[in-house]
Amino acid sequence: MLNRRRMLRNSALSLAALALRPDRVLSQMNMANMEPSGSSPWLTMFVDPLRIPPVLKPALRGKAQHYYITLRPGLAKLHRDLPPTPIWGFDGLYPGPTIKATRGQPVVVRFESQLQGTHGNPDPNALMYPAVHLHGAHVAPQDDGHPGESVTNLNFRDYNYPNNQRAATLLYHDHTHGQTGLHVYHGLAGLYLIDDPEEDQLGLPKDDYDIPLLIQDRLFNKDGSFAYALDNNTRENGMLGDRILVNGVVQPHFKVARRKYRFRIVNASNARVYYLQLSNGAPFVQIGTGGALLPKPVSKTLVELAPFQRADVVIDFSPYAEGTQLILRNCSECLWCPNCSGPTTFVMRFDVGGSAADDSKIPNGLSDWQNLPTTAQTVTRQFILTRKTTPTGTMWMINGQTYEMNNAPLARVKHGDVEKWKFVNQTGHQHPVHIHLIQFQVVDINGVPQDPSQHGWKDVLVAPPNGHMTVVARFKGYTGKYLFHCHNLEHEDLGMMADFEIIP
Ligand code: C2O
Ligand code: CU
Ligand code: CU
Repeated sequence: MLNRRRMLRNSALSLAALALRPDRVLSQMNMANMEPSGSSPWLTMFVDPLRIPPVLKPALRGKAQHYYITLRPGLAKLHRDLPPTPIWGFDGLYPGPTIKATRGQPVVVRFESQLQGTHGNPDPNALMYPAVHLHGAHVAPQDDGHPGESVTNLNFRDYNYPNNQRAATLLYHDHTHGQTGLHVYHGLAGLYLIDDPEEDQLGLPKDDYDIPLLIQDRLFNKDGSFAYALDNNTRENGMLGDRILVNGVVQPHFKVARRKYRFRIVNASNARVYYLQLSNGAPFVQIGTGGALLPKPVSKTLVELAPFQRADVVIDFSPYAEGTQLILRNCSECLWCPNCSGPTTFVMRFDVGGSAADDSKIPNGLSDWQNLPTTAQTVTRQFILTRKTTPTGTMWMINGQTYEMNNAPLARVKHGDVEKWKFVNQTGHQHPVHIHLIQFQVVDINGVPQDPSQHGWKDVLVAPPNGHMTVVARFKGYTGKYLFHCHNLEHEDLGMMADFEIIP
């Protein structure tokens, strides 16, 4: 009886959610997420429990915490019914181990390559020398994973991360010139969380109740291996899979207690944009982006996440009876539309268990906020995103150029300046634009002015199909060359990337 009443209430809730759905999403959807070519073997959903990537211990503590990570092949069991998948992982793991850093305390990571030069290298014993980038971090140019700053042929490189930025949910990932898509797809990505002792005082859910959900889509061969192909379809749309994994498990279930949880939802997919909802239409309380906490919590029934965007949310399971199952869904349409049935619709399932003490809270003020100051004199730059057809297939461009390491930077920014960057998308595809070094504020999307405090600090924003968006940032902290690019990894590898330079 109780369950029946709950079900009725839940369906009423989802109708309400339907009415609240932002229309913006639908208009951006037309060209997004074409289905992949080929299909994975059948895999039953929700059979494996969620795993949490292990937190790495420093190899050496001191003024800086030193970590040592090898890039090496490994085998990962990703679903009950799949043979182990050969991966390339940080420490041989998929996803990589999590690094936990503290604001203001420097970290040095030695990345050592034990990966064979698998592609294009005729010598089977040659190693490959990847570049590693800490996505969302404020670091010096030589530590930023620029393709010119890769692991050297000594096989290792020390990257310095000062962590002089707000508490954040970052990712370290491969950034090898022209092969980022291939490398990340095979597993070279992991979490890097910056913690801030001041923000610990806020009382947000923590420890066992602060859970990362790193979401990726993959296409599998029957033998369990990843099927990666840079064919016409993927050159166009990016590499899309037909199975969703969370923390390296295909569509897991996760047993939760009846209390509040903080979830750091991270889209680490090559190309897929997610439109996340709870199956009963209940809202998420978003408390942060990847770059920082929001000034105030924002309640939303739909969380849109482009590649390498992050959303920090709280879900309260205390209203649900033990035994309730809630599904985290991915669908841009209404909750029960016919499109909501493919395997990429289902991300994971929460299984509500017993009660647990909960003294956590979501304060109304989370972090301080100021809009970046702009005037009529503020430098505004425009970048045009286009595609072209070449004899080898589709290529992607910024201001008429595909990326080459010796291209002149497309912008020279004076150190300390606030600038507005407008991205004009002249293609029918979504392009999630990422700028290295800085966190930006959102000015407008398709000319519609945005309240930047609602969006928070971001480092990826989608330039909508045949539309445009503008962001504003202060370029400060270091001088030198940094990248900006489309974070659809195939678009990035196929040219949609450029350097900018910060000059004294
Ligand atoms: Cu997460 Cu240049 O990338
Ligand atoms: Cu980055
Ligand atoms: Cu793109």
